[in-house]
Amino acid sequence: MSAIAAQHLVKRFKEKVAVDDISFEVPEGHMLVLVGPSGCGKTTTLRMLAGLEPVSSGAIRFGERDMTEIRPRDRNLAMVFQDYAIFPHMTVYENIAYGLRSRHAPGALIKQRVPDAARLFHIDPFLKRKPRQLSGGERQRVALARALVRDATLYLYDEPLANLDAQLRLEAREDILLLHRQKGMPSIYVTHDQSEAMALGDTIAVMRDGQIQQMGSGQDLYERPINEFVAFFIGTPSINLFDVDLVADGEDIWARNAGMDLLLPAELREKVASYVGKQVRLGIRPEDYHVPKKAPFPVGEENTVQGYVNVIEPTSVGSTVYCTSLEEEAKDFTVTFKLRLPASYIGKEIPLAINTRKLHLFDKETGASLIHSVKVPIALSEKAG
Ligand SMILES: Nc1ncnc2c1ncn2[C@@H]1O[C@H](COP(=O)(O)OP(=O)(O)OP(=O)(O)O)[C@@H](O)[C@H]1O
Ligand SMILES: [Mg+2]
Repeated sequence: MSAIAAQHLVKRFKEKVAVDDISFEVPEGHMLVLVGPSGCGKTTTLRMLAGLEPVSSGAIRFGERDMTEIRPRDRNLAMVFQDYAIFPHMTVYENIAYGLRSRHAPGALIKQRVPDAARLFHIDPFLKRKPRQLSGGERQRVALARALVRDATLYLYDEPLANLDAQLRLEAREDILLLHRQKGMPSIYVTHDQSEAMALGDTIAVMRDGQIQQMGSGQDLYERPINEFVAFFIGTPSINLFDVDLVADGEDIWARNAGMDLLLPAELREKVASYVGKQVRLGIRPEDYHVPKKAPFPVGEENTVQGYVNVIEPTSVGSTVYCTSLEEEAKDFTVTFKLRLPASYIGKEIPLAINTRKLHLFDKETGASLIHSVKVPIALSEKAG
């Protein structure tokens, strides 16, 4: 079995275009994560792959085989639904065994695998219960166990951890990854939680309004977002965005507003040249602000701003600092430090050195990045071609 491919998938519900020309490829052993806000077409894409929703146009291939018109049963998929869809009249045991039984798995295999899967998802004490005697989170784990107990060609997950508490969510996430690595089959995982996407995805596709905005590794999306939407969607806390004017002074180009005056690094000059004299959106990731003394780069007036400290939140690795700029139209922004900033800084003004090599700049009208433009990395587009 080789890759699973979606080719120019379109889904129309009357006049509503829910999925608008989506293509991707998921190689063996690979997990693709579809991430995006509510209503962007994630579930509809999965349902087309599963055969539960006919495509309006486009094709689905499993390896060499065109699966577009094949009935769901014959696609050999395991799917965990957003609403878990377990059978209310069956016990937990029978629910988990269902996928194996319906494919005529030998009894001995069922007897071995069902308790194993139940243990993995901590539902082994409930094997004799019916779903109505379980909490939402427990039901969701039954759905996970039922899907993962099988050997399928493709595993599809639609927000399978949505009803779990934070601890179980992390555990179940690890279990899914482990099983995925063991089975080595392609998987597609849908979530609207970008941190889950970053944790699970070999490749992440950021969706919006039925289209893939950008596809790549978590690092690609974080460091080289091609538009403001992707830049804002990926990363917690979110990237800080400011309106700035690009101003030329000799060869130098500055990004300027009432609260900052930053010299752009020389390597950006050519890329932003046509925007000089115009207003653009400047993006600064919270981690690209530094305490001047600790900054890993030379610090001067040309890369420093002032911030008024409102709130300091300790984190596992340092602190998150909520600041306001000092000009009249004060603007809030968020900074993360890998050091503990003492609470005595609250209510004080501090200088913040910015790593200008990591700046992001976007067209104010279209949101397109002035710096990065690769929508799909070469390795992926070659495979997908
Ligand atoms: N059967 C249907 N008939 C008409 N419109 C539909 C149907 N199913 C989905 N849609 C619309 O298609 C769009 C995409 O829906 P979809 O369920 O794929 O979104 P989603 O990305 O999974 O969102 P969520 O994160 O909320 O689950 C939405 O605007 C939705 O209202
Ligand atoms: Mg959905």
